[in-house]
Amino acid sequence: MRLAGLRHLATLANSSVPAAEVMPARIRGRVPEAIWRRTSARLHKKPLHPLCTLRTEIASYFENRHPGVFNMHSDLSPIVTTKQCFDDLLVPVDHPSRAPTDTYYVDDDVVLRTHMTAHDVAFMQQGKTALLLCGDVYRRDTVDRTHYPVFHQVDSMRLYPPATERALIQRDLQADLTGLAYHLFGSDAKLRWVDGYFPFTSPSFELEVFWEGEWLELLGCGLLHREVLFKANVASDVNGWAFGLGLERLAMVLFQIPDIRLFWSEDERFASQFSSGTLSDRFKPFSSFPSVEKDISFWVNGNFHENDLCEIARSLGGDLVENVSLLDRFQRDGNISLCYRMVFRSMERSLTHDEINNIYYDIRESVATSLPVTLR
Ligand code: PHE
Repeated sequence: MRLAGLRHLATLANSSVPAAEVMPARIRGRVPEAIWRRTSARLHKKPLHPLCTLRTEIASYFENRHPGVFNMHSDLSPIVTTKQCFDDLLVPVDHPSRAPTDTYYVDDDVVLRTHMTAHDVAFMQQGKTALLLCGDVYRRDTVDRTHYPVFHQVDSMRLYPPATERALIQRDLQADLTGLAYHLFGSDAKLRWVDGYFPFTSPSFELEVFWEGEWLELLGCGLLHREVLFKANVASDVNGWAFGLGLERLAMVLFQIPDIRLFWSEDERFASQFSSGTLSDRFKPFSSFPSVEKDISFWVNGNFHENDLCEIARSLGGDLVENVSLLDRFQRDGNISLCYRMVFRSMERSLTHDEINNIYYDIRESVATSLPVTLR
């Protein structure tokens, strides 16, 4: 297949976009190899994988509720332009989500999508009036049990016939989504709506579910902002809604999966526990292996960002890195010293001290040479 220019690739909003794995290496741009490799994993399409089960469960809920209305697209390339990901969705130019510390830039105006909403405008421009999208999204972040630089979202949009009252659209949206929450959590689930903020919807809401003693954010949604609809060439008397939901946190709660890295595990003991492909699967940890902890301390000389340290730990330690957290911070003579604790643990086996020491020294070296810090 002949590949068109990057920008052209990123603006194709349909499933004819080549799969990431057949893209030539030059397209990787500034994206780290370890992250790039994830773009071809497609966990949400892997049969019996809990993320795939959840995706199909959500699709079939919408199919039952509104037969033939929503088409699900699950093969969109994660490479999009900053225009698609941010500008068209009214994300302010100085919004933190655009910063290279938070987003993986392929080049100056092409990124790995940070949310599936990035595709909405292009689909509306093609005249689509109802969508369900599912795919992998990428965000640079800290490292812990619930954060991973790649996760999956289901995103949806629906436009209504001209002159439909906005109040009616909002009622429809909220009824569809509380219905979805009851479908996933059971009809006795305790739900509440809270006001939300997203640049591309107004008003915006979040739906929360009370689960094991706390309110969990389940999804974000709202009525599509007039200006977004304008950019999408939608007629001025047409309105609609959008919502977006992250699959990992939801799957962790529903299937009782204790660590987000497990979704990437190739261990049969993980996969074999999801044999029914339904929401009734429950995960039982196969064992808990001991952790190894390593601390790294340094003076900060410039613009240090925690996500850069996490990125280095993640690219050299892979999924053995369980947690990176600030242990200590002090100031002397106007200089700042930070100490981070890195926790290493395998989900599958015991680690050896040699193996972790090697990774640890590689991390130290990379931190010393690529970050604005002086190791102590
Ligand atoms: N894109 C938002 C996110 O990633 C979720 C969202 C989608 C909110 C659509 C409102 C409407 O958090």
